[in-house]
Amino acid sequence: MSARLIDGKRISEVFRSDVARRVAEFRSATGVIPKLAAVLTGDDPASAVYVKNKHAACEQAGLGTEVIRLPRETTEAELLAVVHRLNTDPAVHGILVQLPVPPQIQPQRVLDAVTPLKDVDCFHPENVGRLAQGRPRFLPCTPAGVQRMLIQEQIATAGKHVVILGRSDIVGKPLALMLMQKGKGANATVTVCHSQTSNLAEVTRSADILVAAIGVPRFVTADMVRPGAVVIDVGINRVEGRLCGDVDFEAVREVASAITPVPGGVGPMTISLLLENTLTAAALQTSGAPGAGNTGG
Ligand SMILES: NC(=O)c1ccc[n+]([C@@H]2O[C@H](COP(=O)([O-])OP(=O)(O)OC[C@H]3O[C@@H](n4cnc5c(N)ncnc54)[C@H](OP(=O)(O)O)[C@@H]3O)[C@@H](O)[C@H]2O)c1
Repeated sequence: MSARLIDGKRISEVFRSDVARRVAEFRSATGVIPKLAAVLTGDDPASAVYVKNKHAACEQAGLGTEVIRLPRETTEAELLAVVHRLNTDPAVHGILVQLPVPPQIQPQRVLDAVTPLKDVDCFHPENVGRLAQGRPRFLPCTPAGVQRMLIQEQIATAGKHVVILGRSDIVGKPLALMLMQKGKGANATVTVCHSQTSNLAEVTRSADILVAAIGVPRFVTADMVRPGAVVIDVGINRVEGRLCGDVDFEAVREVASAITPVPGGVGPMTISLLLENTLTAAALQTSGAPGAGNTGG
């Protein structure tokens, strides 16, 4: 039996047209154009592609967008100065600092400097704390993209065992926080695995829903998946010039009941959430604006 394909591209197209409709409503109600500023430091080719895609998606959704490109030699103080300028610019509602930054810059210091109301990546400790307490201001883009996908595909999480491979601040940890909350698309029993986990395959085989976010090409093999499990592949790896995920897709699709491809799975969802968060940020910063999605305040 071959698994049902979860088409992230299609799901995100529907989602993005809904965001575009809400952006248009917001613009006509307030006269404000929600705007995202992305800061790209250095010349990492993958980062340049990500920023280009985010910029294009913003334009398509009717959001304002600006890319600030800084050279590889940029100092931490110079990058912080740019972030401070964006923090105080009333025309900018969301700030995205594209990672990785060059080695002379400590990423955490820069991410902490983004004002929480413009923190559309949901990396600031205040926003992560709110997420942990179940009262998010912004939803972290990739984890929320995974959750939206599950909801859209009517894959129940309540009472299910979700196993997440990876404990990063960007994917694994916030996804675990989201799926263990009370509420729609959550109420799961969550296990988080990492490089020190013992008996990894035994743990992954106990998953109803297995999420791979480790950055190791085709790491999850068919024998690590319980027949009928749902498999979500967050990984984006380049092998011999081609993109692949953290899951051995061809073998695992014969065991799983549903699976996301790479590319065309979680990736497009991440950008969609960024668009929604920019609209949410604009609503939070515009007095009298209609609510734009998530809870704020
Ligand atoms: N689709 C998207 O939009 C999107 C967004 C973000 C990231 N990604 C992709 O997702 C992947 C993960 O990204 P990330 O930023 O979360 O990575 P990361 O910060 O490098 O974290 C990787 C995690 O995987 C764990 N790990 C590594 N090797 C392992 C192994 N052999 N067994 C068990 N656990 C292992 C690490 O464990 P330790 O903590 O013990 O080191 C760590 O917790 C990457 O391929 C990245 O490109 C995709």
